[in-house]
Amino acid sequence: MYEQISHSLLNSILDDLKPEIRRQDLRHFYTRLGANFYAIHSLFFTLYGHRDDFQLQMLRLVETMAKGYIDRTPELEALDIQREQDHNWFLSQKWVGMALYSNGFADNLPDLTNKISYFQELGINMVHIMPILKCPVGQSDGGYAISDFRQIDDRVGSLEDVRQLAQDFRKREILLVLDIVLNHTSDEHEWAQKAMQGDRAYQDYYYVFDDREIPDLFEQSMPEVFPETDPGNFTWNGAMEKWVMTVFHNYQWDLNYSNPAVFIEMLDIILFWANQGVDILRLDAVAFLWKKMGTSCQNERKAHLLLQLMKDCCQVTAPGVLFIAEAIVAPFEVIKYFGEDAIVAKECEIAYNATLMALLWDGIATQNAKLLYQGVKSLPNKLERATWLNYVRCHDDIGFGFDDHDIRAVGYEPRAHRRFLVDYFSGRFDASARGLVFMPNEATGDARICGSLASLVGLEAALEVGDDDLIAAAIGRILLLHGIILSFGGIPLIYNGDALGVLNDYSFAEDPSKRDDNRWVHRPKIDWEKAALRKKQGTVEHTIFNAMKKMIAIRKEISAFADFDNRELLTIENEHLLCFTRFNHQRPSEKVLVIANFNAQPQSIELEALRLAGFNLYGQWIDLYSGRKPDQDDRGIVLEGFQFCWLTET
Ligand code: GLC
Ligand code: GLC
Repeated sequence: MYEQISHSLLNSILDDLKPEIRRQDLRHFYTRLGANFYAIHSLFFTLYGHRDDFQLQMLRLVETMAKGYIDRTPELEALDIQREQDHNWFLSQKWVGMALYSNGFADNLPDLTNKISYFQELGINMVHIMPILKCPVGQSDGGYAISDFRQIDDRVGSLEDVRQLAQDFRKREILLVLDIVLNHTSDEHEWAQKAMQGDRAYQDYYYVFDDREIPDLFEQSMPEVFPETDPGNFTWNGAMEKWVMTVFHNYQWDLNYSNPAVFIEMLDIILFWANQGVDILRLDAVAFLWKKMGTSCQNERKAHLLLQLMKDCCQVTAPGVLFIAEAIVAPFEVIKYFGEDAIVAKECEIAYNATLMALLWDGIATQNAKLLYQGVKSLPNKLERATWLNYVRCHDDIGFGFDDHDIRAVGYEPRAHRRFLVDYFSGRFDASARGLVFMPNEATGDARICGSLASLVGLEAALEVGDDDLIAAAIGRILLLHGIILSFGGIPLIYNGDALGVLNDYSFAEDPSKRDDNRWVHRPKIDWEKAALRKKQGTVEHTIFNAMKKMIAIRKEISAFADFDNRELLTIENEHLLCFTRFNHQRPSEKVLVIANFNAQPQSIELEALRLAGFNLYGQWIDLYSGRKPDQDDRGIVLEGFQFCWLTET
């Protein structure tokens, strides 16, 4: 948009740019800066306009974008232009992701190259490598406490390894996803170290207070993330003799985004990683970015403004790079991370679908899909050019964060129901579920669950007793859950051991740096000798891996599975089944009917419901996954216990 005030400011900034910047050929940069400048200026002004040094900070911001652009390689710039032209590229059904640790899935970054063949075997073409930056020895929150945003932790490799990996991936059309931990640094970061030495400028990078007065006021409304190990949101620092805000662990210092210098530093880091060839940046813990006294300090409007500003700035320098929002918050809050009051995504193009994840686990515990149906029905509509990251498990705990209204709507009492879920997955209700209770909070009664997918759905227990039916049921659940995330609409993100049925790893309890955080139970080192069993018929690994491989291959062929808000949830009588259609957004008559049976017993769906959903019922049904006709009885289509199918009518 052309607007006089911001435009004349832009002109004066361009006049003030350093000569070495002005000498470069910045044509593409200038067109994009012109297009986004009004928005960038307005957002920056809303956040920082009250400051005397506003104009100077604005100049720094533009310089940061320009410098980032100058550092972008011609190859990456060509990719930017290609993606601008094909701007729906990431909505395609061809993408299938995996999240992994470079020193868990592989030995280290160089060794990850040896695992590319595994990705190709399974059909993975987007890889999220968990944090690899320099972090403290000992406790580091799995690398989410970062000591240097530009240096690779030498225990896993070097920057050269990342560049090499990015190239190896690109050659094979595999997308690289890395984390940007925006919310905090480790207390070993240079900024925190300087703050500790008394440097005021760096103390202003964080929230530091002389006494408890303000921290106590904050505490009145702030929940706790790790109440068991790190209660409270502030930590006393003896060196500074001050309290510092530490929402996560006491060694993770929250960055203060009311300081524009922090914003500019972090933008510079985003652009640095974009320029290393990262395709998608996973923005960690974005709900926490803005702190305001009297609130929960999550999902604040200004956190959204910060993200919009980051997106607008990144678009100027590296428009081909996408953002994933990791905001594990209430359903009506998650959706806002795509951007509000907009048509196309204007914050993050991709967001973790934590709502679906939690609802899927409800379906497993209750063997009933009614809350899942209700929760999916209540999912607000997405913007265009925005997509979900659909997952079953990840490196974090499972929180049952669905909406209380939805829980009540299906006849449960929220507190009691959540308690049931925690009891169920921790084996108190059914000993076959081998989860661990994570961070129980005595004061609020909240608790979350850890555990690997296979152990949570009963595979560990079934293997122990050697019961083939129980083993088959556990595998059925694993495939059922993936059958949904692969067809729901969005990018499925598979957790690294899950296609191999990897079980809980209890060895974390012996490691002093891990034993207080039972999320490590589901972050094992992959045993590649065992993984080789995927090639041996009759093994659990073979059954799961080949089924997943087939599902992935088929998903990629079904254009109705691309994400153009082309899903219709079906209301049916049988509450054990979740049923929705996916249709080709350009040819709506091309439909796939997805049915998932959460119950151990066979369940049927009435044909009348399918007629109402627009199927003519004259043709032949075919399950694209099994390649077979579905079973039918006089009432309708019948699914075996834990079966899912992707039906078309021919
Ligand atoms: C995100 C990460 C989690 C980490 C937290 C703090 O939620 O997924 O593992 O503990 O951020 O960085
Ligand atoms: C962040 C994540 C949440 C997780 C927590 C600890 O809050 O958003 O999913 O429970 O970190 O892992």
